[in-house]
Amino acid sequence: MKFTVAIDGPAAAGKGTISRAVAARFGFAHLDTGALYRAVGVKAGGEGGDPVAAARGLTPADLAREDLRTLAAGQAASKVAVIPEVRQALLEFQREFARRDGGAVLDGRDIGTVICPEAEVKLFVTASAEVRAHRRWLEVGGDAAAVLAEVVARDARDMNRAEAPLKPAADAVVIDTSTMSIEAAVAAACDEIAKRMR
Ligand code: DC
Repeated sequence: MKFTVAIDGPAAAGKGTISRAVAARFGFAHLDTGALYRAVGVKAGGEGGDPVAAARGLTPADLAREDLRTLAAGQAASKVAVIPEVRQALLEFQREFARRDGGAVLDGRDIGTVICPEAEVKLFVTASAEVRAHRRWLEVGGDAAAVLAEVVARDARDMNRAEAPLKPAADAVVIDTSTMSIEAAVAAACDEIAKRMR
């Protein structure tokens, strides 16, 4: 069975948590596509900076690095993600993953719009910048104002780039998690998927 769930949205909206829960609930494979861009950003940063070569030569070891979740890696990812050749180099891997047997959930910024416009389910998970920054701050600590500034800067770059900008697909279901518990957000996502599987 091929069944693709596309989950897009801005940083720290809850996409990762929802994606993992949905994958476990329906037995789907999960790909965190942000990790691909993070790995490219970190690798290029440490290699005299050729992000296109880093994307073309990405290996499983690059994706297993422990420093991919840092704020710096998020910023580096957002910067290399504006480069069309980087996005192109990562495209086929994501499309193949999406159509694997047994179902797949991919989370990112352009899954429903560019990578899998034919996805059976498209969700756009969002929340206010303040709520997202607070969640990120609980994870990483440090100066709360700096974390908010980082979230706002990354949103601006991800939404305003020319290539595959962050935006909901026309037929995406929007889930705003600003005032929702994790359980309620996961339940809303699972309901949408169950509806389309009937
Ligand atoms: O989801 P994340 O925070 O791990 O993503 C890190 C950055 O990677 C994000 O700011 C923009 C980029 N990205 C992208 O452009 N397209 C995707 N499908 C996923 C991430």
